[in-house]
Amino acid sequence: MSQASSSADKRIAVFEKFAHPVTADILGRDPSITIDMLQLSDSDAENWQALSAAHGYQIRAARDELPDQFFANGEFMARCPNMLVVSSMGAGFDTVDLDACTAAGVIAVNQAGGNAEAVAEHALGMMLGLSKRVGEADQFMRARDGIERNAYIGNNIQGKTLGIIGLGHIGSRMAELCGTLFGMRILAYDPYLEDSDFEERGAINTTWGDLLANSDFITVHCPRTEETMNFLDARAFDQMKPSTVFINTARGGIHDEAALFAALSSGHLGAAGLDVWAVEPPSKDHPLLSLPNVMASPHTAGVTHESRHQVATYAGEQLLDIFAGRRPPRLLNPQVWPRFQERYKAIFGG
Ligand code: NAI
Repeated sequence: MSQASSSADKRIAVFEKFAHPVTADILGRDPSITIDMLQLSDSDAENWQALSAAHGYQIRAARDELPDQFFANGEFMARCPNMLVVSSMGAGFDTVDLDACTAAGVIAVNQAGGNAEAVAEHALGMMLGLSKRVGEADQFMRARDGIERNAYIGNNIQGKTLGIIGLGHIGSRMAELCGTLFGMRILAYDPYLEDSDFEERGAINTTWGDLLANSDFITVHCPRTEETMNFLDARAFDQMKPSTVFINTARGGIHDEAALFAALSSGHLGAAGLDVWAVEPPSKDHPLLSLPNVMASPHTAGVTHESRHQVATYAGEQLLDIFAGRRPPRLLNPQVWPRFQERYKAIFGG
């Protein structure tokens, strides 16, 4: 474990490193902040000692990047009585139990928006690649001679219907890109938005069933929560139009992989673009990777140089705000704010 400064009283713990060094540069503007850079290779005792003293915890956003014992859940909170804020490194927050944070008087924040452009571009790239069958033709040409160009006839996406599940930062950018570039009709399902939000974001407010039944492309941009686990199951795939192209760049677990495999291999669905997996990285023997009409990537949609810098900047600025007592812009459990303020005053005064 290493410390970036010594005279401070506000302690922020992070395992291994920030998404980008700019977070530490920004936090360095406040001399009362100490960064405890923890190492997973250090002993549990040493790491728990630092975490139990920490006021802030910058946590990895993906489940496979962190041992379960360091997820921000009820047991974790019981061991970290000084904790005031858990800050996810990305837009996702699968490693954070919001109810446990709220019960402990701890605010949770994420960096939603910081990687929206990267993910939307990735999802759009998959839509285009699958429609033009670029990956399938590429695989054939590397493996065999004598490709017949009409064997890989594709489709245009112009004027088709896109169904977006989750119309937040990424979903909205998808609506904008596909609406303006390709004149697509944009349907969206998001039960947490008002009608006016759909209008402002260029989408038609649509029920779950209508979105599944009427979309040529379906793209998932909601968080992984108890509610969205197995959202896309066998029944949902059955409800989709024949030849629908399904894209998930949000989180593994939101679609049922066995049901998707069945829907693709029966010929009902046209293709799938998958950046996220139930277990990451998936084994090369994963059944979905055996299908030529699946385009795969290893949870890299949000990983661009620009987005790394952006989410890390958001994280640093947001933590500076919080440790100056200001309400942060990306608060995931706003109901706990008054209790957080009381705890903050009790610990730091003011
Ligand atoms: P966001 O918070 O701006 O938007 C999420 C939207 O989903 C919100 O509008 C919310 O109301 C909606 N939503 C919540 N529950 C829903 C439900 N049950 N049904 C339909 N909509 C629901 O988040 P952002 O930035 O758009 O990111 C979305 C997700 O994308 C993240 O939660 C994360 O899991 C994933 N992600 C994946 C990345 C990758 O590298 N593959 C990178 C960044 C984010």
